[in-house]
This record gives sequence, structure tokens and C-alpha cells, in this order.
Amino acid sequence: MYFKKIGIIGLGMIANTRHIPELKDVENCKITAICDIDENKLKIVGNDLGIPDELRFTDYHDLIASPEVDAVEICTPNHLHIPIATAAIKMGKPVNVEKPLSINLQCCEPLKNALKENYVLNMMSFTYRFMPAIRYAKWIIDNGHIGDILNVDVEYFKDSGFIKGRRLEWRFQKEMAGTGVLGDLGVHLIDMAELLAGKITSVCGVTDIIVKERQKIDSEEMAKVDTDDYCSFICNIENGVRGNFVISRCAMGKPNSVKFDIYGTKGLICFNMNNPNVLDFYSEVSDIGGDRLQTITVPQEFHTTQEAEFIKMLNGERCDILPTIEDGLRSQKILDSILKSSEKNCWVNI
Ligand SMILES: NC(=O)c1ccc[n+]([C@@H]2O[C@H](COP(=O)([O-])OP(=O)(O)OC[C@H]3O[C@@H](n4cnc5c(N)ncnc54)[C@H](O)[C@@H]3O)[C@@H](O)[C@H]2O)c1
Repeated sequence: MYFKKIGIIGLGMIANTRHIPELKDVENCKITAICDIDENKLKIVGNDLGIPDELRFTDYHDLIASPEVDAVEICTPNHLHIPIATAAIKMGKPVNVEKPLSINLQCCEPLKNALKENYVLNMMSFTYRFMPAIRYAKWIIDNGHIGDILNVDVEYFKDSGFIKGRRLEWRFQKEMAGTGVLGDLGVHLIDMAELLAGKITSVCGVTDIIVKERQKIDSEEMAKVDTDDYCSFICNIENGVRGNFVISRCAMGKPNSVKFDIYGTKGLICFNMNNPNVLDFYSEVSDIGGDRLQTITVPQEFHTTQEAEFIKMLNGERCDILPTIEDGLRSQKILDSILKSSEKNCWVNI
């Protein structure tokens, strides 16, 4: 493996809880440069990682141009993913882009054009794909242990929308987030459903804004929330599979509850994100598990991390379920279609 120098743009929650800690655990790479518009975050993260002042940037163009950066991780709010990824690709630098890819499909055009003109290695941070249970579920399904898939039944409930005093951060503003809980949590589930059960072909959904106004970040003034914090949709998936999704961040009493059930003609797989190392599994035809729904532990060979796979990709060792910008574009199209379905009160074909 060649040694890789990584630049991180956006030093907020996800950079500090996933990208940076996971990269610290990967051999043959180093975080060499960081960028944020918040100088305080630059100082804290820069000091922690021992990054010299000249490689702490407030303008992402400077980080991308630095010869000390081989590849770029994009961990900013959603509306910045496309301009930053496009700039990096134009410089020939591989990217790992946080989800969702953008605020809508139309905004993705510059990125699509840049990739067409100058293809570079790319990845989307569809984090759930790297969870051991999801990788194992894919193996179980692909090896016929639950027969043909009939339906997927998905719930993601959080109560984080009700946190007292939570202000009008970028997530609650359409011009920066695109969608609300749909793009924040739902996009992971959409990507997982497509990975495990097949391509979604049509959707019919509703969205709702439950907390309608919040206090602005930097003043006492209240302002309108214009992104969803509830979404439910049904969908058709190829080969006659049906999907049923409910996603909310205003689910009082449920701090973080995920149910992802995949029903087949011969068995059932149930995944819970709170325990990503096990699955609940039942099969009539498999020698894994038993004759009733029971918890099985994911074998070690299915364990990996998102950032380990990013570094492997940079070294030409792409794992077969690595999410790319192509997957980001697909799920963006599905997000746009669910919003359209909700607005027009109709089914929308993908
Ligand atoms: N993969 C996952 O499971 C997962 C989980 C949470 C968030 N996310 C995604 O990660 C991204 C960031 O989310 P977050 O929760 O970390 O947000 P955050 O608000 O905590 O962090 C965003 C950071 O970007 C910085 N920033 C804003 N404008 C910038 C600019 N022009 N240049 C450089 N930095 C800039 C902000 O100062 C902030 O530090 C979002 O796209 C979100 O959807 C992914």
C-alpha cells in the first residue's frame, strides 16, 4: 500500500466522530491538512492532530491545491458538497463525499461534468454499508439464505428534533440541507435498501415539518424551518419487491431506534443499527441460525471501517460494495422524487 496524505474539509460532528478517529486507526495514511471556516475548530483539531499552521486552511480551494494533500474528505453541510467535490476532481484529487450528495439533483450537474471530463477515484460516505451486519446481510441474501425478497420494512425514529433550545442550524434550512430528516437519516436507508433488495423504481411519500420555527443561531429572533422532520413513503423495488419506510426525528421517547427488516420467501433478516455486529435471522433453508428467529453474530471477516475502505480504494483495492458518487446521484434522485411525490400527492417513477 502506498502512503496517502489526506485533507479534511469541515471539522464538525461527523469529521470528529467518524472520519478522524477511523483514519487514525488506518495504516499507510495521515491527515496532513484540515479546513474549516471556524478558526476555533481549526485550532482544536489542528493541535490534536499536530498539523502545522501552514496546513490549516479556511478556504477549501487552498487545501485542495496543497501538494501535501493526495485525497480529500468532504464533511461540510450538504450545499457545499458539489462545489468542493467538483473543485477537487478538477484538480485530479480523489474524494470521499458525505451524504447526501447535494441539496437536489439539478445542483449535481457541475460534478457530473467534471467527472466526465476527468474521472478520478471517488466514494460516498454511505456509512451503513460498512457496518458488519449490513455486509453480512448482503452475503446472506446473495447466497440465497432467505430466498427471494418480498418486502423491506424500515423505521428510523429519533427524538433529536425535540431537543430543547436546538437552534436553526443548517439542517433546518432548505438552501443548505435540501431535505431534512429524509436526506439526513432516510438517505442511508434508501441506499441500504437498494444495496440489499434492488433498485427502487417508484415512490409515493409524505413529508411534514413538525417543529415549524426555531431560534436563529446568532440572535434571539425566531425563523421558519423549511426542511422535513417526518417522512414516510412506500416504494416499488425491482423484481416485485415492496418497501415501506417511516423516518422521524420528532419521535418522543425514542432517542435512536432503527428497524430494518427484510422478508424473503424462505427467511427473514432484521438489522438494528444500535447493534451493528449482530443480526436477527430466520431461514427455512440455511444452516446458519436455527429453526426460529434468533440473534446471530457477524463473523470477523465482515468487519471493516469506512475509512479503511477509503484508503484501500486510493490504493486500487476497491471493495465490491464501495459506494460511489454514482450511488450518491441515484439516491439524490430518489430523495427529489419523494419530495415531489409529497408535494404533488402522487406516485413518482424514478
Ligand atoms: N455518514 C453519516 O452517518 C453522517 C452522519 C452525520 C452527518 N453526516 C453528513 O456530514 C456532513 C456534515 O454534518 P455534521 O453533522 O458534521 O455538520 P456540522 O455542522 O457539525 O459540521 C459541518 C462543519 O463544516 C464547516 N463548514 C461550513 N462551511 C464551510 C466551508 N465553506 N469550508 C469549510 N468548512 C465549512 C462548519 O464550520 C462545521 O465545522 C453533512 O453532509 C451531513 O449530512 C453524515
